[in-house]
Amino acid sequence: MGKRKMFSGHLGFILATAGSAVGLGNLWRFPTLATKYGGGSFVLLYIIFVATIGFSLVLTEAAIGRKFHCNVVDAYRKINRKFTFLGYIAVLVAFLILSYYCVIGGWILKFITVYFSGNELLAAGDGFFDGFISKATWPVLFQALFVLFNMFVVMLGVQNGVERLNKVLMPALIILSIIVSIFALSMDGALEGLKYYLVPDFSKLSFRAVLAALGQMFFSLSLGMGVTITYGSYVRKDIDLEKATKKIELFDTGIALLAGFMVIPAIFAVFSSSSESLENALQAGSTLVFITLPKVFIKMPFSGWIGGTFFLLIFFAALTSSIALMETVISTWKEKLHLKRKSCTILVGLIAFLAGIPASLGYGIWDSVSIFGMNILDFTDFCTNQLLMPLGAVMTCILVSYIWGTWHLTDEIKKSSAFHREKWYLILIKYITPVAVVITLISSILNTFGMIQL
Ligand code: PHE
Repeated sequence: MGKRKMFSGHLGFILATAGSAVGLGNLWRFPTLATKYGGGSFVLLYIIFVATIGFSLVLTEAAIGRKFHCNVVDAYRKINRKFTFLGYIAVLVAFLILSYYCVIGGWILKFITVYFSGNELLAAGDGFFDGFISKATWPVLFQALFVLFNMFVVMLGVQNGVERLNKVLMPALIILSIIVSIFALSMDGALEGLKYYLVPDFSKLSFRAVLAALGQMFFSLSLGMGVTITYGSYVRKDIDLEKATKKIELFDTGIALLAGFMVIPAIFAVFSSSSESLENALQAGSTLVFITLPKVFIKMPFSGWIGGTFFLLIFFAALTSSIALMETVISTWKEKLHLKRKSCTILVGLIAFLAGIPASLGYGIWDSVSIFGMNILDFTDFCTNQLLMPLGAVMTCILVSYIWGTWHLTDEIKKSSAFHREKWYLILIKYITPVAVVITLISSILNTFGMIQL
């Protein structure tokens, strides 16, 4: 391995990790789950998970990365040879997510073309999105285009291209999100939505919602798949990891909350005419952002431009995340298969594209395929977020706490600064995080196989 590049400092690490964390998970998945699982109570639960379990896991991954300075498979091997498989699971998860992430990335590209070609009315029309994703060829072509963008940037080099772009695009995303939120909140009937989003109603809090909130936390913080270990390996020894972790979490959660402000009040405003259509819209799942937002944009001045810019920003947020996923896969495959970066990028891009096609077809010609009641994309999403990532996280907690020794990590964290929440961290990583994750993992498996009804 040649000399490893380093982030220039605190900000470089935070921006890169935030770039990987902020993506479709924040802008598309979070509002979707929050509406589906009862609004305020889900949001509160999510924030609690981020501040506790999320905090302990992000910090652990970043510290492992900085301690060993190497790719994720080798990092686990250096901790304990018998746990090398955890590194391979991480890479597998990254690959699986990459495959379906590119399908959704393709949908976003389609919407960009629709808006910038002046067809915003079309996008707001009933059935437009479903009509598009159920086709066999076009979604796959847009998916291919998204994969090509990824390959292009990864070949160019992540640090110069994407990182600089991130510095401009992330603030732009925040500003635009605030503008859209203000507009959405000023619509008639929006305040009901705001109430639904922010006021917890614990009668709506099912165990399913707990599972979803935990899975979302893993996904959104890019946990359990080696991305933070990889980025942590580029961090200088004088950076305060505890502070950096808090900032990354704040950034990620802030953007997710903002996405909710854009989408949820707008749903209430647009669909409140009948309680049935409102209920349907709240349960719409993955299609929320693609169906509801176009109906909101159409009521705004310059709707084509606003809608187009909005989807363009989602595209960039998604791109910085999928690049992190692709990088994680490539950095391992490259070394294991002895390939050059370029040929490895082509190989990974091609296989990820092929692996994603069934997920795309699952919305159209293969929509009869149902695995435990889920379509192919949802099933892959379920396997990664609710099974493999938590599994990897629990094993990491056990490995660190009971086999290797937490002092390795607390020493690493204390190299740069005082560790204010050390006691809290130790309680989390030894007891709370593994127990909470194991309970949800087991229930999620039992539920999927029909042994319990959540
Ligand atoms: N965190 C990203 C999101 O919220 C998804 C992601 C997961 C990116 C894992 C990289 C690694 O969209």
